[in-house]
Amino acid sequence: MKILVIGNGGREHALAWKLLESKRIQQVVCIPGNGGTATLPRCQNLSLRVDDFEGMARFALVHNISLAVVGPEMPLALGITDYLKSKGLMVFGPTKEGAQIEASKSWAKNLMESAGIPTPKFAKFTDATTAIAFVRERGAPIVVKADGLAAGKGVTVANTLAEAIAAVEFLFQNNFHTVIVEEWVTGEEVSVLALTDGVSVRILPPAQDHKRIGEGDTGPNTGGMGAFAPAPLVTPQLMARIEQEILQPTVDALRQRDIDYRGILYAGLMITPQGNPTVLEFNCRFGDPETQAILPLLETPLEDLILACVHKKLSDLPPISWKSGAGACVVAAAQGYPGSYKKGHPISGITQAQEKGTIVFSAGTKLKEQQQVTDGGRVLSVAATGDTLAGAIAQAYAGINSIEFEGMYYRKDIGDRAIKTSSIPNQ
Ligand code: GLY
Repeated sequence: MKILVIGNGGREHALAWKLLESKRIQQVVCIPGNGGTATLPRCQNLSLRVDDFEGMARFALVHNISLAVVGPEMPLALGITDYLKSKGLMVFGPTKEGAQIEASKSWAKNLMESAGIPTPKFAKFTDATTAIAFVRERGAPIVVKADGLAAGKGVTVANTLAEAIAAVEFLFQNNFHTVIVEEWVTGEEVSVLALTDGVSVRILPPAQDHKRIGEGDTGPNTGGMGAFAPAPLVTPQLMARIEQEILQPTVDALRQRDIDYRGILYAGLMITPQGNPTVLEFNCRFGDPETQAILPLLETPLEDLILACVHKKLSDLPPISWKSGAGACVVAAAQGYPGSYKKGHPISGITQAQEKGTIVFSAGTKLKEQQQVTDGGRVLSVAATGDTLAGAIAQAYAGINSIEFEGMYYRKDIGDRAIKTSSIPNQ
């Protein structure tokens, strides 16, 4: 079987790497891929834009490729699944209609409201004046969200009224026509990803990522600076509630709207101090960097999971087999990220990190004369598994310590709080 993997991040490198562990997979073609996917055996990069649906369908047809696995949200929101399916491909990822669960916060909020899914109270605005009047009336802290896709820059957790007003003004001045203002809730964030065939769900190990650039969760938001799974905060009892009260009812609500949703439903949850889960957002795809922490734990071939979703046979899939223990990954970023940064610096030490038993997933890299050089803000992530969460994290750090490029930055505290607060680090 030959598979297209759409995207160019660490998540897509992890997907390609995991798929290629199976001898049944003849070839993976990454569109456009990165410097790491270019070096994977039986893997090739194809330099097309992720919205060039016609180009990828033509390539798939000529090369007898039957399945596409879509990484990022943007092509899903633009309808990649609808297009490739119309050309005869199987696609892992929801249709354009289903992708609204991530692409339109107000659509997702309405779906949750009508299906009784717990989510913070919200109001929707189409002009700045009314939104600002509402923010003033409610006061801070308060959350301001862009309604559309914003590449991770659409959410402001405003601690002051001034910040909230600035966020509203920024969004309306930057061509967002609808803004959501949401009640601020406290607690701890977790990412719970479910496979779904549009009817049933199978939950992946719960993960936590670290969104802020600075240690101690300080500084601006990023795409994610590291992750670990399973998150000890999510007990089996809490996981059962998340499945029964959130993920399955959401899939049911999508199906009742005749939406064909086959792929990943990612719930970004807040676990309140009372231990209740509430949905901050849904995503329509695998998380990055959560995927790099979760997939190294997977023992069942990834294509079995994907094909069960695509063929609407998820309930027939035998129990998914996971390594015991934990997985973790630490992201190395370019100096200046998430602001502006330079590209083109040679990366050394990848082989040494691999020799230490870690898996190096490239993200913002490309090959230049057979050498990986930096080509993005989040450059790579180093992942490891271990018998315990502390062991997996220590191993990931042992790997990243071997890697060097000019201006390399990584957080030194990935998973610290989970290790400190958990007496059962490995459930
Ligand atoms: N790690 C956050 C995300 O994938 O959206």
